[in-house]
Amino acid sequence: MHNDHFVVQGLAGEKKLRGMVVINGAKNAVLKAMAASVLFEDELCLENVPDTEDVKKLSHLLSLVGMQITFDSTKRNLCMKAETITGTDLDPDTTKAMRGSVMLTGPMLARYGRVSFSAPGGCVIGARPIDLYIEGYKKMGATIEQKGDHFTIVAPKGGLKAAEIFFPLQTVGGTETLMMTAVLAKGKTILKNCAMEPEIVSLAEFLVSCGATIKGIGSTTMEITGGPLLTSGGAPYVTIPDRIETGSFLFLGALCASELRIERCNPAHVESAIHLLRSVGVSVEIEKNDPYKGVICVSTKNDSKQEKNGVRKSVQIRTHEYPGFPTDIQSPAVTFLTQVQGDSQVFETIFEGRFKYVQDLIRMGADITEMNPREILIRGGKPLRALGKDEALQAHDIRAGFAIVMAALVAEGESVISNIYYIDRGYEKLEERLTALGASVKRVLGQKA
Ligand code: EPZ
Repeated sequence: MHNDHFVVQGLAGEKKLRGMVVINGAKNAVLKAMAASVLFEDELCLENVPDTEDVKKLSHLLSLVGMQITFDSTKRNLCMKAETITGTDLDPDTTKAMRGSVMLTGPMLARYGRVSFSAPGGCVIGARPIDLYIEGYKKMGATIEQKGDHFTIVAPKGGLKAAEIFFPLQTVGGTETLMMTAVLAKGKTILKNCAMEPEIVSLAEFLVSCGATIKGIGSTTMEITGGPLLTSGGAPYVTIPDRIETGSFLFLGALCASELRIERCNPAHVESAIHLLRSVGVSVEIEKNDPYKGVICVSTKNDSKQEKNGVRKSVQIRTHEYPGFPTDIQSPAVTFLTQVQGDSQVFETIFEGRFKYVQDLIRMGADITEMNPREILIRGGKPLRALGKDEALQAHDIRAGFAIVMAALVAEGESVISNIYYIDRGYEKLEERLTALGASVKRVLGQKA
């Protein structure tokens, strides 16, 4: 964990950035594909892997239990061999530090009949319990021993058995993890009220191509019939483009660029963000509609006057499970809306603590009222000003970190943003990509924490 910080020169509202940004493979797809490697009897290789902190951390966690992992950062592929795994005690510090590691517990339990780990603490965006995972394992016959935040979970003698599991709320990680677990459980597991994120569909389709039996992919009810270990047969999992990174850059482009070309994305996965931007008069052209090599152009050169006789209809965002407006793009959208004339309402329906960064935007001059922990009202059009060095801005979570960089870019003056470790977890080399667009964002190295 490093404590580098960014120094950002604000553009004072000028839309000066221009150029092209290439989207990386999706963090929230690759972490699950890494967990899925435990279900395979042969080597599984992943392609289009982002070189981010979370990938490094999950690789480290798996190598600690003996998995053989090779990462080629130039070719961006990661190869994993579960057959060399020798233990099922996951390093407690790592599992606590990164929630994505809880995805590993299901496949480990299904394959080896046992797993121990420390529950990931809540993070700044909310408590983020893992009760739905634990409930699911219990339904499949496992016994749970919990001491504080440490869990030891053991499958029954004959292995996990199929179950019917209803999710009381749509959980992305819960859906993926129990889907992976059911791949090796005896019988037909039925998962109800599943999340339908593209990352889940992509993973499920790949597992089916390697021998899994999964019905209802992309719907809220999935049926998984357990079977033997999967085989990749050398076929790689190609990580889908990061739709959250794509959405983040769409809002950054609309806020700070005369023209931004976004390449190697999947436009079909960011419809809600495109719809919002067009509704406030931003020109968004889909130049190429392709699942891996899509191109979107955002241009604000001739900002269409969205006001009809001076008043813009107010914008309302309600974050929602896919295909609704993603909670992970909420903070970049809010920063954008602080600079758009008119009132906007934003409801955060997924996480109870995902507006912490709003206080920083208010300190910078944004006119935002927090109605309650899940709802804010924005009166757009107030210019932002940089905060002095001693009032350093910080990245509260991965996505809020990106939103604060956007705010610093649109502000007048020089901003310092600390805690950018979070940003590095979700956006590879962000300062280099912004500099290439004409921004002045410098990384100042801190000492290793
Ligand atoms: C995934 O987290 C993403 N992370 C998150 O992205 C994303 O915000 C979230 O899905 C929602 O889209 C990864 O894919 C690695 P959930 P996940 O289970 O799976 C509650 C980012 O910035 N819940 O869908 O952990 C939970 O508290 C990150 O890339 C329970 O109550 O999210 C939340 O309120 C942030 N009990 C709601 O469900 C459980 O057992 C949705 O969470 C599990 C979840």
